[in-house]
Amino acid sequence: MNKILAAALALTLTAGAAWITPDDEEAPAAPPAPAYSPVGSLDALMTGHGMAFGGIREALPDKENRRRPRTLQINAELLAELANINTYWGRRDDYRNWAGELRDTALELADAVKKRDSIDEARVEAAYRKLDATCTACHEVYK
Ligand code: HEC
Repeated sequence: MNKILAAALALTLTAGAAWITPDDEEAPAAPPAPAYSPVGSLDALMTGHGMAFGGIREALPDKENRRRPRTLQINAELLAELANINTYWGRRDDYRNWAGELRDTALELADAVKKRDSIDEARVEAAYRKLDATCTACHEVYK
C-alpha cells in the first residue's frame, strides 16, 4: 500500500473510532427523515379506503359482537392513516382538505369507541355519516 493511502486509512480509522466511542458525550444526531412521498398507486390507496370503510360499515350494526369496538377502532385508524397518505396525492387545497377531514373524522370515530364499556353511539354514528359525506364530496370533483 502506498504511504499516502496508508496515512489516509489510518486517519479514517482513528476518526471513525473516536466517532463510535461509547462514552462520547455528543452522540451523532440521527439523520433527518427524508420527505414523505407515497410509494403505491392511488388505485390501491382508494381500494384500501373502500376496505377500511367497508369494515366500519359492516361492524356498525353488529352491536352484540364483543369484538365490535376493536374492529371499529382498527378500521377507523387504518382509514385515518390511508387518508393521511392521500393528503400527499392532492395538488389543490380542496383535495388536501377533504383528505385531511377524512383523516380527522376517522380518528374521531376511533376515539369514540376507545372506552369499550361506554360507547357513545350517537358520536360514532355522526362520525360515520361525516366520513361517508367526505368520500362523496371528493369523488364528485375528482373521481
Ligand atoms: C380527497 C379525495 C378523496 C377522498 C376523501 C376519497 N376518495 Fe376515493 N377516490 C378519489 C379519487 C381521485 C379516485 C379515482 C382514483 C383513480 O383515478 O384511480 C377515487 C376512487 C375511489 C374508488 C375506486 C377505486 C378504483 O380505482 O377502482 C374507491 C373504491 C374509493 N375511491 C373509495 C373511497 C372511500 C370509501 C372513501 C371514504 C371513506 C374515499 N374514497 C374518499 C379521491 C378521494
